[in-house]
Amino acid sequence: MPNDKLTRFSITIPEDLLREFEQNYYSDHKRENRSEAIRFLMREYISGERWKLDDDKEICATVTIIYDHHLPGLSCKLTAAQHDSGDVIICSTHVHLSHFSCLECIITKGQASDIKKFIEALKDIRGIKSLNVNITAEV
Ligand code: NI
Repeated sequence: MPNDKLTRFSITIPEDLLREFEQNYYSDHKRENRSEAIRFLMREYISGERWKLDDDKEICATVTIIYDHHLPGLSCKLTAAQHDSGDVIICSTHVHLSHFSCLECIITKGQASDIKKFIEALKDIRGIKSLNVNITAEV
């Protein structure tokens, strides 16, 4: 049962960091006030990190990768990794960003341990320029 009791605490941070945070964060997120902004960030961090600790949790994660499709064997390895984790992959979308770069967005749903295994398999493939994981929901 959630406890809605509020508590007040103080933190110490560099002035520049606070100024930059307030200038950028509020314009992007339209949060009502500083407390609301910090609560939002804390919840986002907790839901983004908690799945890593609990292998049995059912989650939905979006995995976005960028790679150069000219690298020998890369596309083949990517396809193999996706077939190996076919049970957790719902769908994927491929976008040809430029002559060299491809972006692929893979939507997964399943046990955190299986999704972690898929992500580790992707990390083992040389040539992936960026790999971004976003936990969309805890199912
Ligand atoms: Ni492409």
